[in-house]
Parts: sequence; C-alpha cells; structure tokens
Amino acid sequence: MPSETAIREALKAVIDPELRRDIVELDMVRSIDIKDAGVVDVTVSLTTPGCPIKNHFQTAVAEAVSSFDDVTRVNVGFDVLNDTQKSALQKKLGRSSLPEGALAQVKNVICVGSGKGGVGKSTLTANLAVALAAEGKQVGVLDADVWGYSIPRMFGVPADRPKVSGERKILPPVAHDVKVMSIGFFLDEDAAVVWRGPMLHKALTQFLEDVAWGELDYLLVDLPPGTGDVSMTLAQLLPQAKFVIVTTPQDTAQKVARRAAEMADKVKLEVAGIIENMSVFTAPDGERYPIFGTGGGAALADELDVPLLGKVPITMPLREQADAGVPLVSFDPSDPAAQAIRQAARGIVALSPIELPVMQAPAAAAAPKPVGMSLPMA
Ligand SMILES: Nc1ncnc2c1ncn2[C@@H]1O[C@H](COP(=O)(O)OP(=O)(O)OP(=O)(O)O)[C@@H](O)[C@H]1O
Ligand SMILES: [Mg+2]
Repeated sequence: MPSETAIREALKAVIDPELRRDIVELDMVRSIDIKDAGVVDVTVSLTTPGCPIKNHFQTAVAEAVSSFDDVTRVNVGFDVLNDTQKSALQKKLGRSSLPEGALAQVKNVICVGSGKGGVGKSTLTANLAVALAAEGKQVGVLDADVWGYSIPRMFGVPADRPKVSGERKILPPVAHDVKVMSIGFFLDEDAAVVWRGPMLHKALTQFLEDVAWGELDYLLVDLPPGTGDVSMTLAQLLPQAKFVIVTTPQDTAQKVARRAAEMADKVKLEVAGIIENMSVFTAPDGERYPIFGTGGGAALADELDVPLLGKVPITMPLREQADAGVPLVSFDPSDPAAQAIRQAARGIVALSPIELPVMQAPAAAAAPKPVGMSLPMA
C-alpha cells in the first residue's frame, strides 16, 4: 500500500476550483486512513457545508488515490473548516475575504498577449470573441489594457458607465452577442491615468470579481503590449487561465513573442496556441505579398510545441471594421481574415476542456454579499 506521504503527494493533483490552489496546499486534507485490503479513507474539509464543488472533490480525490496499484477502494468523506481554520486559510491566501464566487460560471479564461505592441491583439480578441459567439458559445471580453484600452471602440460600445445590478455587480454591456468590460467605461476620454501597482491589482481584481459575467464558456482577456504587471497580476488571480500568443511572421516579432512565452512559463500559465497575424496580403489581382515575411507563427508554434491556431491575412476590412466598431467576423464572415479568425476560434474550442469551470458557484445559502464599488476611477 502507498504511504500517507505518497497519498498526500498524489492529492496535490486535486485543485479547489474556487480558491484555485490544490487541497494539500490549502490544508484541506483533514485525514488519510490507510486500511487493509486496499481501502483508503480520505476526509476533506470544505469552506461551506453546502459546497457545490463537493462532487468535484469526490471524483478528483477518488481518482488521485486510485492511481496507486494497490488501492482498490477510496472512501471520500467531508467536514467543514472551523472558524480558526477558515481565518488561517484566508491569511494564507492573503485576502481579506474568500471569493464570493466571482467568475462562478466561467469555464475558460484565455489571455491574448504578445511580446510587443501593435500586432493585432485587440483586433483578434474582439473578432475571436464574435467568432466564438457564432459557434454558439457564451463569451465575454475583458479589456485588461488599462493604458491603451481599445475594446469599447472595436465593439462600438459607447464609453458610458455600465449599470449596476441589485446585487451591486457591474453589468457588462453586450455588443455583437459578447459581454464587454473595459476601464474605458469608467474614464473620461483621453484622461491620463497613472496606474501604480496596488491600484492596478485592485482594478483587475474588481473586473474579475465585481462584474456580473454570469455564465460564460469563454472569457477572453485583451492584454496590454509587453509582458509586465498586468500579466503577472492576472496570472496570480487566474492560475487556470491560458495564453494565446499573437505574433507577426517576421523573425524579430517571433523573438518578442518567445519572450511572452517565457513569461507565460514564469507565471505558470499554459500557452494554448499561437495565432500569426498580418501573415500575407493578397492584392486585387490575386498576387500574394508576404509584407511582414513568412514562417514566424509556425516556427514559434514548433518551438513551443503548441498548435498554430491560424494565420490571419492582412485585409483592409479587418482594420476598417475595427475602427467602425463592428467586428469584421460579424460584418462580413466571408472576408479571408474573418474566415481565418473563425478557424482559429474553432481551434480554441477544440482545445478547451468543457467540464471544469475556472471557479464554481457559491453555495445557494451563501448568497453573494453586496460588494464594494470602489473601482479606482469611480
Ligand atoms: N490582419 C490585419 N489586417 C489589417 N489590419 C490589421 C490586422 N490586424 C490588425 N490590424 C490593424 O493594426 C492596428 C493595430 O492592431 P491592434 O490595435 O489590434 O493591435 P494591438 O496588438 O492590440 O496593439 P496594442 O499593443 O497597442 O494594444 C489596428 O489599426 C488594426 O485595425
Ligand atoms: Mg491592444
């Protein structure tokens, strides 16, 4: 039979989807009893008695412990953390309160990033979102570019302050079947904002926790250029998020994108795939011009051993529609760029797990408390 230490080690594979850490690290494994004849009893402490993720724990714990050859049966029992244990847990998580089920029903979070600016992250994020919605998915876009937000313009959403629900959650406006949230809704246009670390962290936390995202298959996050603070903060808040890296075909861009991949690795976010943008321009006479070179996307995908989700050509309408506030995928799905983006969206669907939400709904009894509305720009 495996030792208690070995079983504890195996239980590190069981992640609390709400707290986003493993149950060993969270000190939620109350007891492990190794009985004769291949039977192991494990007791897990939950944060609330009616915890809706009990089933998840039941299955995940049983699976982790049955991975040992000698184990033939796993009994999973539950108890509830007492107040002292709860406050120890809160302290460990470095937060003043446990999450109230923010992103409760969001299944996949995908950050769209690149090592450098102007490669089309925002354009692709907006169009991928519309493409995923066209696949029948429920989609949201979070504009995490607090310095150079462009998502409201690309979706044609007026920069008005969003409404607030009865539960004091911010209601994201819906455009082209996509829920959209951006710092741009809270700022006067052209206002210069200096974001200092803690403020940035707080703003992003609020965008994740205080926005009524509701049920989503995909939350796409448009990252600012570079590999800095925002990505680190998001990675901390959303360890299960995945990265899609946008690159252009030339080598130098690929080098920068590789830096983004290294960063993703550093913050332990998985790279889901690469999209090469501005890959080729086809003139009206049919001649193809590789304006920004060729091969960068495929080379980076090879190097990182992840799929190349698409090669999006340069087309005037992609730019025009971004400026006009009607994403091209919605305006003219037959445009070659729109088709490439739709194909990339289908690639994302094919890659994404469907069963495990990023965070789970809170217990019905623990109805969401009103949350603060102190968005930094309010
Ligand atoms: N495939 C394309 N064909 C034509 N124009 C494109 C294409 N991709 C992006 N553009 C245009 O290039 C410009 C930059 O794109 P975008 O703002 O999406 O880049 P970004 O990576 O988000 O930039 P930033 O780093 O500043 O956030 C925009 O004017 C956009 O319309
Ligand atoms: Mg951008």
